[in-house]
Amino acid sequence: MKTDDIGPAGAVATAPAWRGVDDGWGRQAVDFATLSEPANCREYVAVHHRLGVGEPDRLLDVACGAGLAIELARARGASCAGIDASPRLVAVARDRSPDADIRVGDMHALPWADASFDVVTSFRGIWGTTPAAMAEIRRVLVPGGRVGLTVWGHVKKSPGAWALAPFRMADAAKVANQAAMVALGRPGAGEELLARTGFVDITRVTVPFVWEFPDPETFARALATTGPAYEAMQQVGEDHFLRAATEQARERVRDGLPLRAPIDVVGYLARTPEMVTA
Ligand SMILES: C[S@@+](CC[C@H](N)C(=O)[O-])C[C@H]1O[C@@H](n2cnc3c(N)ncnc32)[C@H](O)[C@@H]1O
Repeated sequence: MKTDDIGPAGAVATAPAWRGVDDGWGRQAVDFATLSEPANCREYVAVHHRLGVGEPDRLLDVACGAGLAIELARARGASCAGIDASPRLVAVARDRSPDADIRVGDMHALPWADASFDVVTSFRGIWGTTPAAMAEIRRVLVPGGRVGLTVWGHVKKSPGAWALAPFRMADAAKVANQAAMVALGRPGAGEELLARTGFVDITRVTVPFVWEFPDPETFARALATTGPAYEAMQQVGEDHFLRAATEQARERVRDGLPLRAPIDVVGYLARTPEMVTA
């Protein structure tokens, strides 16, 4: 499938389809920012730690969503920029980090000059279907710059696989595309893409990733804020999606404990080559 074939509300799209991403990802930006994104915090903290993010790093977060990762990088002393296709998510990110340079745009055409950043991160933003974005990331990094990416790993084998299962209510073509998008998590796939784009010192790391929710209704509401959920709702309707997701989560309720869904997420750390001096 060509990347241009990806539906406008899907998780990732190329221009001009990226302009439609907001339909799926931005329509419940406040719920996404407060109910869904905070559940990813372990991943952000782990990758920032592995990359040694801090002062005086200039950091860009690609597909930054509502900008929680940017806020955490600022807390470590980095000066931050971000880009996302969803204007409504970017509005939240700017509200959270008014001093950061956060733009609405396409990850395949980053609106920054060559060698603008010491560090680039992307949390489940670069997928098997978006390899061209890697070349852009390489371009905006300084020589010796660090990159940290995360991608979904072996979701089906994860104890928390149930939490992503409602996405499969989307039509068959969109489910197939969701599968193509997680291809970068397969053994060797991300390493190969990074090497092909000219990165060195490529390391694959396991990244902690656990979604936790207080109850099935909150879980369903949080899940409903995402692009893949929007695709499922287009197929079965919002009420059906929410009911099905709530029912599924009810089976996972444990007395006195949160709903907990650990999901396999893979991290890739790498560098651009140092400048060769004569
Ligand atoms: C799985 S979410 C990850 C968001 C955020 N990194 C997080 O950790 O929650 C994917 C994000 O990619 C954004 N996106 C999709 N296609 C894009 C594109 N072509 N350029 C920039 N952002 C894009 C969506 O708006 C969404 O915020």
